Amino acid sequence: MADNTFSEKILVVDDEPLISDIIARSLEAEGYGCHIADNAEDALEVLSENSFSLIMSDINLPGKTGIELLSIVKDQFPDIAVIMVTAVDDRRTAIKALQLGAYGFVIKPFDINEIAISAVNALERRRLAIQSREYENRLENEVRSRTAEIHHREEEICVRLTSACEYRDVETGSHNRRLGLYASLLAEEIGLEQQAIDEIRIAASMHDIGKIAVPDNILLKEGSLNNEEFEIMKRHTVIGAQILKGSSISLLKMAQEIALNHHERWDGSGYPNKIAGEKTPISARLVAVIDVYDALVHKRVYRPPIPEKEALQMISRDKGSHFDPEIFDAFKRVLPQLRRIRLQVQDR
Ligand SMILES: [Fe+2]
Ligand SMILES: [Fe+2]
Repeated sequence: MADNTFSEKILVVDDEPLISDIIARSLEAEGYGCHIADNAEDALEVLSENSFSLIMSDINLPGKTGIELLSIVKDQFPDIAVIMVTAVDDRRTAIKALQLGAYGFVIKPFDINEIAISAVNALERRRLAIQSREYENRLENEVRSRTAEIHHREEEICVRLTSACEYRDVETGSHNRRLGLYASLLAEEIGLEQQAIDEIRIAASMHDIGKIAVPDNILLKEGSLNNEEFEIMKRHTVIGAQILKGSSISLLKMAQEIALNHHERWDGSGYPNKIAGEKTPISARLVAVIDVYDALVHKRVYRPPIPEKEALQMISRDKGSHFDPEIFDAFKRVLPQLRRIRLQVQDR
């Protein structure tokens, strides 16, 4: 009885051969391909091997009932429409079937035309449901890819802005890149949300953007800064925040809080605002640790690199005074990964 030349195939499930035969014939007369199963188990086997658009199933079947078949089909083959065929005194079950997702029901004894009309209606509803789901999926994918594109553009602009500043000070380019990579690792380790993990990679690399306004004689000075020079250097935090302020882009908002606060200390003795503890945004507390670590283990205009072991001893003393102790512990846990980043992104 099955006919693979039809695109819309219908599975008729009934234990009374006379009834399934009448149903199948009336549907075939309308051009559908039909297959007959006389119980739910057989129907499921046929369903696992062939694809159908519609099932017309009796409710009172030997073994699994038509209702049980319906819930299995809705679960495993959600795209197949189901019409229940039921005895007159079985209306309550028929309503339950509709609630379970049946597309309709036909009451026995039925008029032969009723079968074809219910099938056409159910197949049309199914077609519209599939079409609207596909449309929604397309729309969702489009929104997702547009959003990704916007993020990509935002990132590119930030990276180019940062690299413009790096022209002033050649040693900071790789430092900024490493800092971004360290920051997203550490953000993940301390359990920040995925969006923050993604954004901090770029935002952290912009932490010293305010240095663009620090004069060359201070920025590039070989040797330590005197008090007056250091006061000017400190202004890179406030200037960086001014460059980035007022944006509605969350990446830039984060970049601004990092630029302003990455020299604040856990005990409130940092700059520019001497804020302490958790009042300093977590992004900036995080950057504070890796900024100092990376600066120490690499060469600076004013000093050679410090061996990592020694650098770690130095910064460990500042846990709880300069650095948020919890973030510092997380930093130590990800240290092996940070070392790998150092190998990948080396100073020019
Ligand atoms: Fe800085
Ligand atoms: Fe830095």
